[in-house]
Amino acid sequence: MPKIADFLAFGFTPEFDSAGGEMAAVVTELAHLPQSDLEAIAAYLKAIPAID
Ligand code: HEM
Repeated sequence: MPKIADFLAFGFTPEFDSAGGEMAAVVTELAHLPQSDLEAIAAYLKAIPAID
């Protein structure tokens, strides 16, 4: 699974930092999504240009 999708489902970054604050509740709910939806969110985030 892509790393962003992993973060959204499990709340851990590749460095094992964990989602905190309001993001913890977001991860609790996103974990119910099918893997294909998590991967679609990750693909979207990677497709849009970065901002400063
Ligand atoms: C589908 C919607 C969302 C996506 C894809 C998303 C994605 C992310 C990502 C990728 C990070 C960065 C993690 C890192 O690099 O350490 C993050 C952090 C965070 N997000 Fe979200 N997020 C979403 C919705 C929300 C919402 C609705 C809130 C607030 C109500 C929120 C609050 C936060 C906070 C507070 C952090 C920092 C957490 C920390 O440092 O521990 N996010 N989010």
